[in-house]
Amino acid sequence: MNNDIILRPVQKDEYGKVRELAETVWPVCYKDILSVEQIAYMMDMMYSGEVISGEVSAGVHYCFVESAGAIAGYLAWGECDPVRKVAKLHKLYLLPEKQEQGIGSAAVKLVKQAAKGAGFNYLRLNVNRQNANAIKCYTANGFTMVHQEDNDIGNGFFMTDYVMEAEI
Ligand SMILES: CC(C)(COP(=O)(O)OP(=O)(O)OC[C@H]1O[C@@H](n2cnc3c(N)ncnc32)[C@H](O)[C@@H]1OP(=O)(O)O)[C@@H](O)C(=O)NCCC(=O)NCCS
Repeated sequence: MNNDIILRPVQKDEYGKVRELAETVWPVCYKDILSVEQIAYMMDMMYSGEVISGEVSAGVHYCFVESAGAIAGYLAWGECDPVRKVAKLHKLYLLPEKQEQGIGSAAVKLVKQAAKGAGFNYLRLNVNRQNANAIKCYTANGFTMVHQEDNDIGNGFFMTDYVMEAEI
């Protein structure tokens, strides 16, 4: 059903589009989880052109998730632990109207394939402990909880996550 899902690498002049998508998706998916202030803080912390550019230079792959030729969302993945051969799915965010149609699962499969092709044996991710929909998607795609962690991200804000991992 989702054979038409592709990951298209984000180009240098498209970092603003990634932020635009984040500003559309985050307030909806985190409305009952994070404060408006924390979302605004994290937008600047994670989605400025300089931050994305620095991550890409360090080897993170930013891609648009495209469905039937249209952008459905974005993701980012990269190396996490070169010794244990773990890659990390840093981000996966779909537009509200593109969710629950199998696109997220298809995107996860494509990242697993790409990571396997690059020599990794595991794919890891962090997910907010209250993000039940995402946890459901990751569990359906072979991820299990490894541990939980609270990360101080400054300004009195925390990310309260599960770390999940799948064999690939
Ligand atoms: C989380 C996300 C990537 C999942 O992708 P998706 O395309 O919506 O999920 P799928 O259609 O592939 O569904 C996979 C499973 O998750 C469940 N699921 C996904 N989104 C759901 C939702 N909003 N409500 C209820 N269940 C949901 C599906 O029912 C399905 O379960 P099943 O296999 O038992 O039928 C997507 O919903 C999204 O971008 N959400 C907002 C952003 C977000 O939370 N990102 C994750 C940050 S770590």
